Amino acid sequence: MREDGSSIPAHIAIVMDGNGRWAKARGRPRTIGHRAGARAVNRCIDWCVARGVGALTLFAFSSENWNRPAEEVGTLMQLFLRALDREVDDLGRRGIRLGFIGDREAFGADIRDRMARAESVTANGQAMRLTIAASYGGRWDIIQAARRMAEAAVRGEIEPGQIDERRFATALGLADLPPPDLFIRTGGDKRISNFLLWQLAYAELYFTPTLWPDVDAEVLDRAVEDYGRRERRFGLTSEQIARGLPA
Ligand code: FPP
Repeated sequence: MREDGSSIPAHIAIVMDGNGRWAKARGRPRTIGHRAGARAVNRCIDWCVARGVGALTLFAFSSENWNRPAEEVGTLMQLFLRALDREVDDLGRRGIRLGFIGDREAFGADIRDRMARAESVTANGQAMRLTIAASYGGRWDIIQAARRMAEAAVRGEIEPGQIDERRFATALGLADLPPPDLFIRTGGDKRISNFLLWQLAYAELYFTPTLWPDVDAEVLDRAVEDYGRRERRFGLTSEQIARGLPA
């Protein structure tokens, strides 16, 4: 259940795991798994739009993924560039507003420019917010927010004592979105792997053994059905929730 009582999550965050194993099971190189994973991304976006999910955040490339074999990193960058070239206008036409979180400085100028173009081309989209986490780590996110707060304090714009959760959250990735209601991880592992460490504080967690390239509407419907059966208490009691959340 969402804070407003709806059983469709307003914001879903996904760790798309299992591309490598999917390819291995077929005797193919890992890069083929990532290509199949990119097709699953499109299915997932279509599903979100059809079900009225307002925001989708996908973990496409972690800060740690830079240490994978150079060929694999190269393929992921190519997929990224191709998706940015091919899909962005279509996403814009469908009213999907695209954004990125993560350390952009880690990418080459070609990718950085296309990210900026993608954000500006889709800026007026109202149907859904799609955020791609790229070169992203939850700890990195918290550190960069802390640094921004410290810099503002040094400039005399805020007092250190004024830094509270609300103000701190404005410097984090996804600051202009409600926090994820539902976190999904595919591929069978049950961990968050340095994804949105702060933002997932009250998210419902759902793990499925399905490998990411096999994800379809049925898998996603099952996740949302499970989510709809959860009681979200946000640290309160069931009785308080039944009376309505305090403002
Ligand atoms: C994890 O599977 C997946 C990734 C590290 C990359 C995710 C990328 C995509 C789904 C394709 C491109 C995305 C966009 C947004 C264009 P893994 O390689 O860790 O799989 P394994 O655990 O089976 O080895």
